[in-house]
Amino acid sequence: MANAQLQKSVVLLKPDALQRGLVGNIISRFEKKGLKLMALKMMYLNQEMLEKWYEHHKEKPFFADLTSFMTSGPIVAMLWEGLECIAAVRKLCGVTTGYEAEAGSIRGDFSMSQQHNVIHASDSPETAKKEQELIFDKDEVFDYDKGEYLWVYSLEERN
Ligand code: CMP
Repeated sequence: MANAQLQKSVVLLKPDALQRGLVGNIISRFEKKGLKLMALKMMYLNQEMLEKWYEHHKEKPFFADLTSFMTSGPIVAMLWEGLECIAAVRKLCGVTTGYEAEAGSIRGDFSMSQQHNVIHASDSPETAKKEQELIFDKDEVFDYDKGEYLWVYSLEERN
C-alpha cells in the first residue's frame, strides 16, 4: 500500500479482561498479527483521567456506569505500532458491542456486552496521541528495531 502510514494505537485491556484471564490471549493476537509492542503497563485509571479519556461521552447517560466499571479493577495499557495500525487494531477488536461483534474478533470471541467489552483501542491518530500522553510517560515508550518487520512487511512497505 503506497500511502500506508506508520501509526501508533493505544489499547486498554479493561478490568473484565483481567478478571476473566484474557490478557495473554489478547496480547498474543496482536503479536501474531505483526504489530510492534512499544509500551506495556498495568495500572488503575482514575476519575480525572477518564473524564479526559471519555470527554466525548461525558454527557451520555451511561458515563457514570462506564467510569465506575473502568475504575473497578486494574487495567493493562499498551502502545502498538504498525502500518495503518489504528484501523488494523480496531478490526482485531471488532465492533463495540460484544454480542454484535464478528466471531473471530476479540469482542466477538470474548464479550457479550456493550460496556464489558474487554478492550479499548484508539479511533484516530489524534485520539491515539492524546491517549498516549494521558497514559504513558516518555520513558515508558520503547522504540527499537523489530527484526520481524523484515518478514511482516515488504521492502516497499518498510521504506
Ligand atoms: P470503548 O471503545 O472503550 O469506548 C467507549 C466505551 O463506552 C465503549 O467502549 C463501551 O465500553 C462503553 N459504551 C458505549 N456505549 C455504551 C452504552 N450505550 N451503554 C454502556 N456502555 C457503553
